[in-house]
Amino acid sequence: MARRKLLFGNWKMNKTIAESKAFAKESKKLLKLATAKGVDIGVAPVYLSLETVRKTNPKLTVAAENCHFEDHGAFTGEISIPMLKEIGIDWVIIGHSERRTYFAETSETCNKKLLALQANNMTPIYCVGETLKEFEAKKTKKVIEEQVKVGLKGLDAAYVAKSVIAYEPVWSIGTGKNASKEIAEDICSYIRKLVDKLYGNVSKNVRILYGGSVKPENVHAYLLEKDVDGALVGGASLKVDSFKALIENI
Ligand code: PGA
Repeated sequence: MARRKLLFGNWKMNKTIAESKAFAKESKKLLKLATAKGVDIGVAPVYLSLETVRKTNPKLTVAAENCHFEDHGAFTGEISIPMLKEIGIDWVIIGHSERRTYFAETSETCNKKLLALQANNMTPIYCVGETLKEFEAKKTKKVIEEQVKVGLKGLDAAYVAKSVIAYEPVWSIGTGKNASKEIAEDICSYIRKLVDKLYGNVSKNVRILYGGSVKPENVHAYLLEKDVDGALVGGASLKVDSFKALIENI
């Protein structure tokens, strides 16, 4: 079965509840357009706006940007999976490079989160990617291998099949320096091969996204690549017009 394209907006620490609601209202048109194009779309707002966005457009896929792996306890400032489930959220971004860089997340902690999501039958978008230093030292594949192997350790093949992995070179995020479509394809196909080695045939089902300075002008080129099944988009996903142009240009 062909993998459906997926365009996901990562809003990061942007938009108040009111701003998120305004976008969610407009997203009904975006969803129509995406459906007509055969593309899946979704957004990841801050925790505070999750429920508002979901209620405003119940058909839109809504992801949390993070979660804790424990159900409850003494973890000041954290949000758990049962709390997300209670408000109807079943997608979560795990291991975004900003979390790895600024909040000391490791592939080991990501693994705990992925295992907890699996136990709750929730869909992850697991982010991997190398820093500029690693890229320049030609260590990209080594870094990706560790992030994939450690992050996905112990998951069931059937769960991996419906998971999403995002390749986001850290040097391309929010910098305007997007990776070439050749680099994106090289690493996305490498990730698929790794998944194949670890989990076998389900690698054909896993959706692998590229992320990093994706814009309406360059989204098409990435999505033409064989192993790039969509994009995780930061800056260009914040405005309805720009999100619309991303869908139109796929
Ligand atoms: P960007 O962010 O599109 O603003 O580069 C991508 C991301 O961090 O997911």
